[in-house]
Amino acid sequence: MYNGQAVTLKSIENGLVELVLNAQGAPVNTLNSLAMRELGEAVEIIAADSSIKGSAIKGLLISSAKPAFIVGADITEFMSMFGLPDAELEQRLAESHALFSRIESLPFPTLTAVNGMALGGGFELALSTDFRVLTKDARVGLPEVNLGIYPGWGGTVRLSRMIDTASAMQWMLTGKPQKAAVALELGVADRLAEEGELRTVALELLQAAVNGEVDFHANRQRKQQPIQNSAEVKAMAAEMAKKLDPNYPAPIQILEIVATHASLPFDEALKVETEGFTTLAKSDAAKSLIGLFLNDQLLKKKARNWSKQAAPVKQSAVLGAGIMGGGVAYQSASTGTPILMKDIRDEALELGISTASGLLDKQIEKGRLTEEAKQAVLGGIQPTLSYDDFSNVDIVVEAVVENPAIKASVLAEVEKAVPATAVLASNTSTISINQLAESVSRPEQFCGMHFFNPVHLMPLVEVIRGSQTSDETIARTVAYASAMGKTPIVVNDCPGFLVNRILFPYFNAFNRLLLDGVDFERIDRVMEGFGWPMGPAYLADVVGIDTLVHADHVMQEGFPVRMGHDGDVIAAALLDAKHLGQKNGKGFYEYGKDENGRRFKKASEKAQQLIEDRRSAQLELTDQQIIDRMMIPMCLEAALCLEDGIVETPAEADMGLILGLGFPRFRGGALRYIDTLGLEEFARRAEEHQSRGALYQLTEGFKARLAEGRSYY
Ligand code: 3HC
Repeated sequence: MYNGQAVTLKSIENGLVELVLNAQGAPVNTLNSLAMRELGEAVEIIAADSSIKGSAIKGLLISSAKPAFIVGADITEFMSMFGLPDAELEQRLAESHALFSRIESLPFPTLTAVNGMALGGGFELALSTDFRVLTKDARVGLPEVNLGIYPGWGGTVRLSRMIDTASAMQWMLTGKPQKAAVALELGVADRLAEEGELRTVALELLQAAVNGEVDFHANRQRKQQPIQNSAEVKAMAAEMAKKLDPNYPAPIQILEIVATHASLPFDEALKVETEGFTTLAKSDAAKSLIGLFLNDQLLKKKARNWSKQAAPVKQSAVLGAGIMGGGVAYQSASTGTPILMKDIRDEALELGISTASGLLDKQIEKGRLTEEAKQAVLGGIQPTLSYDDFSNVDIVVEAVVENPAIKASVLAEVEKAVPATAVLASNTSTISINQLAESVSRPEQFCGMHFFNPVHLMPLVEVIRGSQTSDETIARTVAYASAMGKTPIVVNDCPGFLVNRILFPYFNAFNRLLLDGVDFERIDRVMEGFGWPMGPAYLADVVGIDTLVHADHVMQEGFPVRMGHDGDVIAAALLDAKHLGQKNGKGFYEYGKDENGRRFKKASEKAQQLIEDRRSAQLELTDQQIIDRMMIPMCLEAALCLEDGIVETPAEADMGLILGLGFPRFRGGALRYIDTLGLEEFARRAEEHQSRGALYQLTEGFKARLAEGRSYY
């Protein structure tokens, strides 16, 4: 009946027709413009036929020929689509509404068979039919909130009327795909089926509806009627909104929009959804979050391309059983790569194993792991004091103390114990990869592999290429990091690599704000309001003041012009006073437990005194000035990393900051932040601070972009 590139329509048995989604040449079905156009054309054929008296069509089945039903609208089209003038964007949404409403008003029963996944627009399409049958392992949901938007194809209206409104709001607020069993319990699925029986069960139900044994009209009406207790919904939404982060407009809008259209007739409710969607789609947060999805896809693609070129890592080893080494051992074994964990002390090995065991126990407590599986993971970590078993190791992660001489000697030693094909990777956070490469005889097989603490939780791994590192070495290291469930980003060697190099100008700016008399608790508050999970003083305490001062020296030496100006005066004073941060309970803050055993964190008077003694001014700054003084050096350093070729793309620079530092997601990273402000506005703000030195000077690359009107994305 219809044969498109993404949609086909065919007659099946007993007067039923089937719309099959099967995007040619694509890994998944999305509702991109092509699929929507073809869906429209196919539905037009069905509707035209059914308008004829005595139409042969008795029912419609919608299904997918791919492993998943539909994963949503096509996100790669969003940037251009959301850039359309409001009226045009609203028109597009209205067309999609009309299409789904047309399916919903066909004069016979309609049913969607959901295999695998129905997300976003795909789920909204399923909601427009009278029935849904899901495979037992299927997941359905509305993940739009993760992209800074809300469901825009009728999902806010249909779902909130079909199931209890509180659950509908939770689905949309969390964006979490829901299990088929939950969908059945709440009434959004009508039947569940084993994977091989989906079609049979779906056709049985559809036929029953055709035969009048099941009332499809009742199902239709249920999702179109205004919500009975709309006043309660409004009150509930207002209450829930109080707990939300104002930096993320989508969740707040979800609650508002459902509360607004709860009492309205169906068509008016759809209109309300469309109007709100347009504003949200054009928000800076939506741009940043959509950008994050696209950046993430790019990272995955790059990692896949590297991994394809690599010989697989079957056996790995880690040197050092400390916090980082133990973390690497745990992560490797729990993702299926056996690992040797070597240290020079038995007690260190015992501690490494007991840390891994503790992490596994937590998984057991959460019901995610069995005791048997725990033992299997622990069996994958082989503690050792010698290099005896290193003859079949594919990759070694060196994670001994952060001391160049010790690292150099350990690397030279292990190189003799491993096969000539093995990769050596150092987990240094500060020492130059090129410098360490001098200690090995096969520098082409050496690179950096920088994990973040705690290894099991932090998703990022910087894979650092030295000037002699070969592509094979990078490929194998990227493949190993990916196999460990991490997100690798390949960067070139420089002091601080990518993430710390960009972080230290931020700490430098913090130090100067303190010298200018700005209170650190206020700076923390302002930067947390900007979206950082913790302000710079708290972050310094978490990192450790000693670690910070050490790394700052590396940065001062590496970048004497920009960072060689006492960027750590205050941190150095704290270190002298033995304020090491959280590790010894005192840094900028003091940490402890009160008489009731509750943890506290309060500003340290000693720290305040040390700052007061060194203060050179008492400036009255606005919150915005604090933000600019903190953020401009960081953003310019990110720009410089791109210009210096430390990182290949803006996407990787921004993802490094998001995954490695917790850069606010809704701002999308440092370079996206520049784009959001606009290069002109950013330049104006940087110029306000010209007198503060090199960290506030626009880079040559930035100036060129500004002159040519080119943004980073
Ligand atoms: N648009 C475009 N491409 C998509 C996509 C989407 N919605 N969802 C997945 N893809 C692509 C990926 O880019 C990838 O392509 P590639 O193979 O060429 O790199 C491929 O599908 C497979 O995706 P993943 O590599 O991410 O595979 P996973 O198995 O790890 O994850 C997934 C699958 C859970 C579907 C994940 O991709 C995902 O979360 N996708 C986004 C889903 C989503 O947010 N949908 C809602 C869209 S908004 C919407 O529908 C608006 C409407 O209300 C108006």
